[in-house]
Amino acid sequence: MQRRKIILDCDPGQDDAVAMLLALASPELDVLGVSTVAGNVPLPLTKQNALVVRELAGPADVPILAGAERPLRRALVTAEEVHGASGLDGVDLPPPHRTVDPRPAAAFIVEQVMAHPPGTVTLVPVGPLTNVAEAMRQEPRLARRLRGIVLMGGAIGVGNTTPAAEFNIFVDPEAAAIVFASGADLTMLPLDATHQAITTDERIAAIRALGTRVGRVVASWLAFYRRHDMDRYGMPGGPLHDPCAVAYVLWPELFSGRFCHVAIETEGKLTLGRTVVDWWPNKAKPSGAEPNCMVIDRIDADAFFRRLTERLGRL
Ligand code: BDR
Ligand code: CA
Repeated sequence: MQRRKIILDCDPGQDDAVAMLLALASPELDVLGVSTVAGNVPLPLTKQNALVVRELAGPADVPILAGAERPLRRALVTAEEVHGASGLDGVDLPPPHRTVDPRPAAAFIVEQVMAHPPGTVTLVPVGPLTNVAEAMRQEPRLARRLRGIVLMGGAIGVGNTTPAAEFNIFVDPEAAAIVFASGADLTMLPLDATHQAITTDERIAAIRALGTRVGRVVASWLAFYRRHDMDRYGMPGGPLHDPCAVAYVLWPELFSGRFCHVAIETEGKLTLGRTVVDWWPNKAKPSGAEPNCMVIDRIDADAFFRRLTERLGRL
């Protein structure tokens, strides 16, 4: 089997952590590295959390890289109200034994993408896009050399950090603007899709019922992580955003969407960080711009949770 090479770029975050476990549990994927960025919590915590998750996953040798400490041009905005003070609240795990790889995340991304044959490495960013934009600045050939970018971020409809903007794009809109204008083969998993992947009682119970340490830890994370979103949205659980991006790489048949033009608002007073999606097809496109991104708006959530649970059971 030809394993698909990915670099997961993340800001753990309980949902980032589950995305990382899904990637590490999946034999179809060759995880070249897990790079970390400041986002849900500051970088010292996101890199520490990625190390903790790697050890939870078992004897994985995948390198963990530290990346940007702050967005390209703005002060960092974090989300402790969602993820807790550590970014990974919900269960106490031992501190990691090993530390991060010494290579900076952006340099690692460039090195790996340029070292592998063209069209073979996929980036899966599930946090602010600072590391990816920085890598593109360092190596202008990067975007076209990739197989693609499958990212969690943005919204066709309403935001979650402001009425207009989703967290990952809002935190570093300048980075997002670089990535969306890069010419890379882009797929975006926006809130409209990830809000269909809800951690109901039954789905968390199925993960706990694996009876493994990973199953217990993930169930405890998800029970903590959903409380903020349940309060806000009044749904029977929280959206499990980031694993949707890894799941798309593994099982694209569970998703559907539309190829559209997406622009990033970097100046709007009320709309900073908005992903402006030109949703109407063909000649009806109001922007008149050529499509640059596959925008996903539907997910088969039952199949997604069934397959995710099965994969977690392998760890
Ligand atoms: C995104 O923001 C973060 O809080 C989550 O980890 C996810 O990547 C959802 O808006
Ligand atoms: Ca994230």
